[in-house]
Formats: sequence, C-alpha cells, structure tokens
Amino acid sequence: MAITYYKRFRMEIALDGSIDPPTLASPYRWAGWNDAMLESHAEVLCRCFRDEIDSGVFPCLGEREGCTRLMREIRRKPGFLPSSTWLVAGPTGYCGTIQGVMDRGPIGAIQNVGVVPEYRGRGLGQALLRQALEGFYQAGLRRAYLEVTAENAPAVQLYRSVGFRRIKVLYKAVDG
Ligand SMILES: CC(C)(COP(=O)(O)OP(=O)(O)OC[C@H]1O[C@@H](n2cnc3c(N)ncnc32)[C@H](O)[C@@H]1OP(=O)(O)O)[C@@H](O)C(=O)NCCC(=O)NCCS
Repeated sequence: MAITYYKRFRMEIALDGSIDPPTLASPYRWAGWNDAMLESHAEVLCRCFRDEIDSGVFPCLGEREGCTRLMREIRRKPGFLPSSTWLVAGPTGYCGTIQGVMDRGPIGAIQNVGVVPEYRGRGLGQALLRQALEGFYQAGLRRAYLEVTAENAPAVQLYRSVGFRRIKVLYKAVDG
C-alpha cells in the first residue's frame, strides 16, 4: 500500500494575557462544554472536515462515527479542558467547534478547530481560537501549541492572524 507523507507545522504561542477576549455578535453565541454536548461536537466536526485535506491526513475526521470516536478520545484525555472546548451556535444551529487539552509541559494543546463551510470568513474561527486560548490562560497555562497541515492555507493563516508562529516542521505518514 502506498504511503503519503503530509508536511505539517507545529505552531506555538505565548499566553501572557494580552490576547483580546473574543466577542461574538448576535446571532452567534457560545455553548460551553458538558458531556451531553459530545455528539454535537462530533456532528459539527464532521461537517467541517469531511471535504477538507485533514480528512485525508486523519481519515476518522471524514466520517460521522469517526468523529464521535475522536471526541470520546479527547474527552477521556487526563488533561481535557472544558474551558477550552466550545461550540458556536448560529441562526441555523451549531456552526463551529474547538477542543483543548492540557499536555505535559504543561502546555495547552488545540485539538481541532472547525467552522462549517457556510459560515466561514466571518471571524468565527478566530473567535473560537481566542476563546480556547482564554480558557488555557484561565487554567494557568502560559503557552499553547497546535499542529497544522502545511497545505491548509486558511488554517495556517488563521493561526498566524492570532499570533501562533511556526516552530517545527513534521511529516506524518498515512497509509493508502
Ligand atoms: C480554518 C477555518 C477554521 C477558518 O475559519 P473561518 O471562520 O473561516 O476563519 P476567520 O473568518 O476567523 O478568519 C481568520 C483568518 O484566517 C484568514 N482566512 C480564513 N479563510 C481563509 C482562506 N480561505 N484563505 C486565506 N486566508 C483565510 C482570514 O483572512 C483571517 O485572517 P486576517 O484576520 O488576517 O484577515 C475554516 O476554514 C475551517 O473550518 N476549515 C476546515 C477545517 C480545518 O481545516 N481546520 C483546521 C485544522 S488544523
């Protein structure tokens, strides 16, 4: 079976309280975490990722059940952080998701961020990211990181716009 190597960046940001807290204008509002929200996160994740490059890198992101499995794994991590895990509700239902965990370091780790296609380009991705970073900061973390596929220009641009900087290049091998 052929192996594809995806170029990925590790990006990091220092958290010193200087990142603006996010504001969401009506009709958008935040929906915080409780365990009953797991399926809603999975559903939004699937709508965000199924037609995107990352569903090639992480095939579970391309299917609904895979997204539920992924959300369960994130929820079970010892460092799972409700304060960095949010949905955005819009006029037609949930339209954005982000999840964060505390990794060894300690350091905040963004797991996934996504906005459904119909609601992109309105600042919701930035708001989700800032909201998760605020959650890390409130949890006492002073640094955060994420990994992004190099070809995913909208995501790289989103992270740069909030202040993340590239610190390492990685290659992820994917079978098939
Ligand atoms: C990446 C993603 C979350 C961006 O969400 P969004 O709500 O459209 O982003 P925003 O409107 O908040 O834009 C944030 C910044 O990214 C830039 N950006 C957004 N879409 C872009 C695009 N298609 N091309 C270039 N830049 C883009 C914006 O210009 C803005 O930067 P600026 O303030 O310097 O102008 C969204 O495209 C998405 O869900 N993609 C699929 C899932 C995914 O790949 N997630 C990331 C996994 S690592």
